[in-house]
Amino acid sequence: MKHILILPGDGIGPEVTSQAVRILQTVLSHHQVIYQLDEALIGGAALDACGEPLPQDTLHRAQQADAVLLGAVGGPRWDQLPAGQRPERGLLALRAGLCCFANLRPIKVMAPLLSQSALKNQRALGVDLVVVRELTGGLYFSEPRGMQREPTVAAWNTMRYEAAEIDRIAQVAFQLAERRSGKLVSVDKANVLEVSRLWRERVDRLAHDHPGVAVQHQYVDNAAMQLVLAPQQFDVLLTENMFGDILSDVGGAVVGSLGLLPSASLNAQGKGIYEPLHGTAPDLAGRDVANPIGAMLSVAMLLDHGLGMPAAAQAVRTAVEQALRYGRTADLAAEGMPVLGTMAFGDLVLQVLHDEVPKDRKEGQGA
Ligand code: NAD
Ligand code: IPM
Ligand code: MN
Repeated sequence: MKHILILPGDGIGPEVTSQAVRILQTVLSHHQVIYQLDEALIGGAALDACGEPLPQDTLHRAQQADAVLLGAVGGPRWDQLPAGQRPERGLLALRAGLCCFANLRPIKVMAPLLSQSALKNQRALGVDLVVVRELTGGLYFSEPRGMQREPTVAAWNTMRYEAAEIDRIAQVAFQLAERRSGKLVSVDKANVLEVSRLWRERVDRLAHDHPGVAVQHQYVDNAAMQLVLAPQQFDVLLTENMFGDILSDVGGAVVGSLGLLPSASLNAQGKGIYEPLHGTAPDLAGRDVANPIGAMLSVAMLLDHGLGMPAAAQAVRTAVEQALRYGRTADLAAEGMPVLGTMAFGDLVLQVLHDEVPKDRKEGQGA
């Protein structure tokens, strides 16, 4: 019996997650997997219900589950709360509580969506990279942190990494590069930050054990530019927590919409949290317009990494790509292509998964 915990969260989180869950249920049934799905609270929804962004019960159930599928957390309603009580803290605490230090963020341009890229098509063609982001250390977690009003108004955070934290995430990136093209770009700010100098030192040290991997170091400011100018040069991009957060959203523009991108956050035992890269999109919430593909492809990653079902994962990816020929959500609007709501796009992917290639639908003209 596979136990999967669903954490819809806030804003568009529940909307995209419910479509992803339909896909998950269908694929698990197709593969005769016996499973149980449970739902729990996180983020603003948890704050409203019980006054904390990560209730003990949610963390406990996440620890017991085989995998966690998450929507997104946060929103303007909770923005004025003190730092320690914000919805986003609940997500950070969940990642830390499960020791999910390895965040894999694949950024792949899908053939039917090439013309949706913000880049010239020849620059976006064939982009297929993975950002390996350290997820439980660095600026988002290190102490001391704080804010004061007296005697001077000030605030501070700390970026601290221990060598072992760098080694374990770099190890993930090296192993991934070995399974892919053997090219690893490590991104840092070693011209300014001591943390980055240590990062570089540890990555270079590990490179000796991985002679099949060609390592290149890039400064983060240059890397941000390179991702827009020549994203095809990247295969595996390794970086620390905050740089990875920022650089991976650039991937949204490269593929055409932030709503397309999935992620997996894994611990040393391979247990994971699967979630789209995007946030709660308050501008879209409650309107049935959000793109659920990031959540659906997170289900594919869950099947792959969490349940060891690569064929099922591939079936989801193929169904999503097929469906894009018949309709898309508004963020991917193209001439001659029907615009579908979140739920209608979910219906379409399910139809494709059930092998009923939509006879009642016409292929769109849009590229
Ligand atoms: P966001 O990712 O919610 O939105 C950024 C832009 O992308 C918006 O224009 C939005 O409309 C668009 N977008 C995002 N998801 C989309 C989708 N599925 N389909 C179509 N368009 C989509 O980022 P933001 O506006 O900076 O943050 C909003 C809230 O979400 C904040 O409270 C933030 O803290 C939170 N957040 C949460 C997560 C998470 O839970 N993992 C991630 C990022 C931001
Ligand atoms: C993400 C988000 C989170 C992060 C926030 C909401 C804590 O931006 O998953 O990319 O910074 O990791
Ligand atoms: Mn982010």
